[in-house]
Amino acid sequence: MTPRLGVIGAMTEDGLIGDYASNKFPWDVPDDLFHFMSRTIDSVVFMGRRTFESIGRPLHRRLNVVISRTMPLTPDVTVVPSFHSALSFWNRMEPELARDGWFIGGREIWEKLASQKTKWISRVSITMIDQSVVRPVDKPIHFDLRRFVKNKENWSVTTQKIRGGEIFEYNDIKF
Ligand SMILES: NC(=O)c1ccc[n+]([C@@H]2O[C@H](COP(=O)([O-])OP(=O)(O)OC[C@H]3O[C@@H](n4cnc5c(N)ncnc54)[C@H](OP(=O)(O)O)[C@@H]3O)[C@@H](O)[C@H]2O)c1
Repeated sequence: MTPRLGVIGAMTEDGLIGDYASNKFPWDVPDDLFHFMSRTIDSVVFMGRRTFESIGRPLHRRLNVVISRTMPLTPDVTVVPSFHSALSFWNRMEPELARDGWFIGGREIWEKLASQKTKWISRVSITMIDQSVVRPVDKPIHFDLRRFVKNKENWSVTTQKIRGGEIFEYNDIKF
């Protein structure tokens, strides 16, 4: 099957995705972490430097690509200096090594993607986190992931309730 590019992330109804001060998720939703793992396993995961720092280590069984102009060489991580070079990296993978790719955040990376390359995205997974499980946040980071599925015809959506939220998965059925 042809590898696909997607976006995966979690947000509250009002678009909260993180806390700038702690650089952590302001919620604990293990079912969402399990969903994230099951979707991204064996894929290429593209992330911004701050998201990598927030995770604290390369994600196991995934090809970790960090977009950064400042990050030093790091074991088990491919560092690329620009958004464009991240896409080139994925496009130039040898066919036998080609894998699905996921843009896993954070806000800066999603902003850049939303501003230019959404036509490449053929699936989007959004977990809507219940407000009731969100901790108070000092410096909220917002990004509305629904921007990636606006004005898209021919997308199918499936939903799944989990403890602490609901997962919405959008797939381009024409892909
Ligand atoms: N809710 C979710 O699903 C979710 C998912 C992921 C992350 N998050 C949260 O989001 C927060 C991180 O998001 P963020 O927006 O602060 O940071 P980010 O997007 O993860 O990383 C920002 C960094 O990426 C690099 N970068 C961004 N655009 C670039 C470009 N065009 N070219 C080269 N490098 C570029 C820069 O690194 P350098 O300064 O090194 O150049 C920049 O400082 C964390 O709190 C995390 O917990 C939430």
